Amino acid sequence: MNHFEYQNGQLCAEGVSVADMAAEVGTPFYCYSSATLARHARVFLDAFKGQPVRLCYSVKANSNLAVIATLAAEGAGADIVSGGELRRALAAGIEPSQIVFSGVGKTASELAFALEVGIDQFNVESEPELELLAKLAAERNLVAKIAIRVNPDVDAKTHEKIATGKAENKFGISWKRAPAVYAHAAELPSIAAIGIDVHIGSQLTSLEPFEAAFKRVASMVEQLRREGHAISRIDMGGGLGIPYRGDNDIPPHPDEYAALVKRTVGRLGCELTFEPGRMIVGNAGILVSRVIYVKEGDDRTFLIVDAAMNDLIRPTLYEAFHEILPVEEPSDDERVTYDIVGPVCETGDYMAKARSLPRLKAGDLIAIMSAGAYGAVQASTYNTRPLVPEVLVHGDEFAVIRARPDYDEILRQDKIPLWLQPDKSSTR
Ligand code: LLP
Repeated sequence: MNHFEYQNGQLCAEGVSVADMAAEVGTPFYCYSSATLARHARVFLDAFKGQPVRLCYSVKANSNLAVIATLAAEGAGADIVSGGELRRALAAGIEPSQIVFSGVGKTASELAFALEVGIDQFNVESEPELELLAKLAAERNLVAKIAIRVNPDVDAKTHEKIATGKAENKFGISWKRAPAVYAHAAELPSIAAIGIDVHIGSQLTSLEPFEAAFKRVASMVEQLRREGHAISRIDMGGGLGIPYRGDNDIPPHPDEYAALVKRTVGRLGCELTFEPGRMIVGNAGILVSRVIYVKEGDDRTFLIVDAAMNDLIRPTLYEAFHEILPVEEPSDDERVTYDIVGPVCETGDYMAKARSLPRLKAGDLIAIMSAGAYGAVQASTYNTRPLVPEVLVHGDEFAVIRARPDYDEILRQDKIPLWLQPDKSSTR
């Protein structure tokens, strides 16, 4: 459920008209709903009521400080994958004790910073990373709490670019090798291997792959305990999918997911950490764009809009489907089939192909739905398009939570060296 609905013929985010925001902020822009963010965090946590679980929101899905702070107010911690995300989580008010650090390529400076601020858990993804972390922790007289991310060799049955749990993927340590790595970790005085971690992919729409992975993790915990390791935590990763096509593709409800978790790992009595990203923010955001031109091609009609692949790369990168709604509620049933494309000079620059929409004209606004996760965070300035701004709605009010940069700001980031500035180079 989300809070983007038509009210008196106009699409609104909670109590604010999308068209009013567009008039003030300009297009394109991302718009997020606080109530939807909070609701999704609560639905997730409610599914596990009475159990020792924590939600470490996967910051990569949407790392705006205001979004993280909204979720922190609901009790969320953070799952981070870089020193930059760690700084964001801290700046948004998340306690280091609620932060877990994932990722295959943590650098020495990122690990050192995370140790120094005292994050709760490192999800270790390789043996060289374990060695480096042990060394950095020992140098600081610290003990790093770790979970080893195991690769369970399970097919997540999602888009190949976002499946992470097969043996051929770069993620985690093979479940076959993991016991040997735990044995080695036990010999490192600056390491406390207290947990196990698994994450098999994103946008999972069935429970079956989760079940296979969680069962493997459960038997691994039993084996590790038999071998003398005190495993008290499981990090279950993220990955629960969201509906992108309205009522036509309903992924498992968090309640069903929670029942599966209980069934597969409940008997172990471990503390559970979850790292959902998309499930929390995906349907809490839209990308608002304006039609620049309607262009008639030989065999199709192009709706050329001012949002492009640099603002939302998901359609072209993952063949992702995002529902598109006119901001003004259609008054009749007439439908036209459009290719909705952006201004970027690539054929891959599209939001949707062969999409049936109400008839639209230049100047009309559209909302690209379910764009709260992996939208703004994957935006770029390709074609020297200013980074797309973000707006957060809260009831009847809204705030710009990242402003559109102006062109001077963008150009100032580049520097022309002295040898290309004849006037100045002569005075060197
Ligand atoms: N934990 C780890 C270790 C992850 O790698 C990810 C996502 C998550 C948690 C959160 O997964 P979620 O609950 O959001 O599915 N850009 C792609 C998705 C990439 C997912 C990367 N890892 C997209 O737009 O579909």
